[in-house]
Amino acid sequence: MDLSVSNPITKDNHYKICFVCLGNICRSPTAEGIFQHLIDDRGLEDYFEVDSAGTSAYHIGESANSKSQRTAQKHGITLHSKARQFKQFDLEYYDLILAMDNENLSNVQQMANGGQDTKIGRMRDFDPQPGDGQVPDPYHGGPEGFENVFQIVKRSCEQLLDELESHVQK
Ligand code: 4NP
Repeated sequence: MDLSVSNPITKDNHYKICFVCLGNICRSPTAEGIFQHLIDDRGLEDYFEVDSAGTSAYHIGESANSKSQRTAQKHGITLHSKARQFKQFDLEYYDLILAMDNENLSNVQQMANGGQDTKIGRMRDFDPQPGDGQVPDPYHGGPEGFENVFQIVKRSCEQLLDELESHVQK
């Protein structure tokens, strides 16, 4: 997707991103944690707001999956999310909504009912090595799947923030 950032990103007009997966306990909490870490690292915490959500109601209220937490922690990142379900309101509120796979994307697009097209995309639209464009669901697999998710999401978040940072006006 092409980012349509129409106004400069300032403290008064901060940029709001929501990462979306199915359960909101593995992939999107990892994306939220990594993106927040990058923002803090670059001193941009006043310019961005980050959250994550799931298209399903399966895990509402749960902390991130223990394998996701362990993997992130190994790389110095703590995941703080509590799972919630993606809501109609989120389509209005966020400037950018990034789905982890094609099913999540299609579910969000159905909720939008043809609207908000320019703000909805996929995480791997920003991956320099996009593969099939999807972040694979690691839930039923072993730790290597969680490490793979971490590396995909890290590359994608770095590229995304590189692009967005050029719109920041301090
Ligand atoms: P996530 O992973 O969408 O990355 O949070 C999953 C978590 C739970 C389930 C599937 C995927 N589940 O079927 O419960």
